[in-house]
Amino acid sequence: MQAATPWWQSATIYHIYPRSFQDSNGDGVGDLPGINARLDYLVELGVDALWLSPIYPSPMADFGYDVSDFTDIHPLFGNLADFEVLIREAHARDLRVILDYIPNHSSDRHPWFQASRASRDDPRRDWYLWRDPAPDGGPPNNWLSQFGGPAWTLDQLTGQYYYHAYLREQPDLNWRNPEVREAMFQVLRFWLERGVDGFRLDAFRRLVKDAGYRDEPPNPEYCPGVDNPAKQLLSIYTTEQPELFDIVQDMRRLADDYGERVLIGELYLPIERLMPFYGTPEAPGIQLPGNFHLLMRPWETTALADLIREYEAALPAHGWPNWVLGNHDNHRIASKLGPAQARVAAMLLLTLRGTPTLYYGDELGMQDVLIPPHRVQDPWELNVPGQGFGRDPERTPMQWTDGIHAGFSRVEPWLPVAADAHRINVESERADSHSMLNLHRCLLWLRRQETALSLGAIDTVRTEGACLCYRRVANGRRLLVALNLSDTEAQVSLGAGRGRILLSTHLDREDAVAGMVRLRGDEGVVVALR
Ligand code: GLC
Repeated sequence: MQAATPWWQSATIYHIYPRSFQDSNGDGVGDLPGINARLDYLVELGVDALWLSPIYPSPMADFGYDVSDFTDIHPLFGNLADFEVLIREAHARDLRVILDYIPNHSSDRHPWFQASRASRDDPRRDWYLWRDPAPDGGPPNNWLSQFGGPAWTLDQLTGQYYYHAYLREQPDLNWRNPEVREAMFQVLRFWLERGVDGFRLDAFRRLVKDAGYRDEPPNPEYCPGVDNPAKQLLSIYTTEQPELFDIVQDMRRLADDYGERVLIGELYLPIERLMPFYGTPEAPGIQLPGNFHLLMRPWETTALADLIREYEAALPAHGWPNWVLGNHDNHRIASKLGPAQARVAAMLLLTLRGTPTLYYGDELGMQDVLIPPHRVQDPWELNVPGQGFGRDPERTPMQWTDGIHAGFSRVEPWLPVAADAHRINVESERADSHSMLNLHRCLLWLRRQETALSLGAIDTVRTEGACLCYRRVANGRRLLVALNLSDTEAQVSLGAGRGRILLSTHLDREDAVAGMVRLRGDEGVVVALR
């Protein structure tokens, strides 16, 4: 008998940045009771799961991605009892909860690192990556931090350097040490036992480093002033080491012990290097190696059609696709494409084959917010200023109402609220039947109604002038998605076919079509073909 489809295949995941979703206690920072109070909004929107960026105790050097206790909640966000309420209330509404899991590093304040740095003989010394200085006293090799400068910091107390792929406040754990593996697997069990439905695995490709600590070679394609300075080197010894794939399988086995739980990898990788993370049917890897290519490719018909075809062709038979248009590390899609084309992008995200992840506020058309220099928070911007690496613009408070601080908080929030929040907000958009919010609700509703969209096959991916087209097919039902990527009128041929428009990004037509579909500028449609 064929097993039913796992929940995460037909699910839409909603990514919440907890600091910025809803403040309940008036400290200007979002929290768990705030999220809890907004669960009905997520139900109304029509998503199936929420993924929370980190909520653990943390000195907040990297806003929660520097964890000082993997099995507790930061008091800013609440406590374990609040978390239990969240799980219970979410599950009562058929919403799944996915946590961010940060296996690659801890905070330098984590008791494990405090012990590790205390002396060369400490039993926890080998839980992190310590090396002697180079003969000239400098770092042991040329490895670079993702957030600027060398990836090694000298610890005066014991005279050795420790490795950190990110900030010096984020020392990397040594996954070659079996005790570290077990301790970090215990963390997964801790949360699985509390009912979480899955994890997003942070910085996943970096877990294991070259045992010989060899220098990385220069990257001939590095573009100074444009690329992250860390890209000067090809990260062949700090990412995707063969031993990583044993860990991938172990994590999957562990998660499977708890039933249908999902593992999503943060993997900014070329398509062919994503595929090994799926593993094989006999030795499965993670279910959703994160596909960030919509964030990286040019917004252009041929580039997108090629992407969809390449990705689909590369997937192993047991591999399920996934797509991402926005997250807390990338500029907002509505800022990149403009508000009109962002609607077309929403239709693309929610009609492609595979699990989509929707970043909070993108359903409203929220844009990047210009952060005045004195309010910059992101350490990446502070370390490498003025080059656009800062991530604060896409992390600003959720816009709920046109009231004070957009209904996010009763006090000045930790990051500024967008100037257009009086217009772009949940309350106003609920009342406007043509709003971006209502477009998302319609798309998500259609996705649930139409198996062709949620689980069906994708075929005939093609371009026609300024339009990107593909079909979604299931049980004899055939839906054509046609997206006009330009701001001028275009048309798409149906050949001898005819059909009915189920949804337009303009939310104003459901007409019958024959022979061809005319599209206005920045319009996308889903057509049921007869
Ligand atoms: C991931 C997170 C990012 C964080 C980094 C270090 O890339 O998405 O926000 O800064 O890991 O943990």
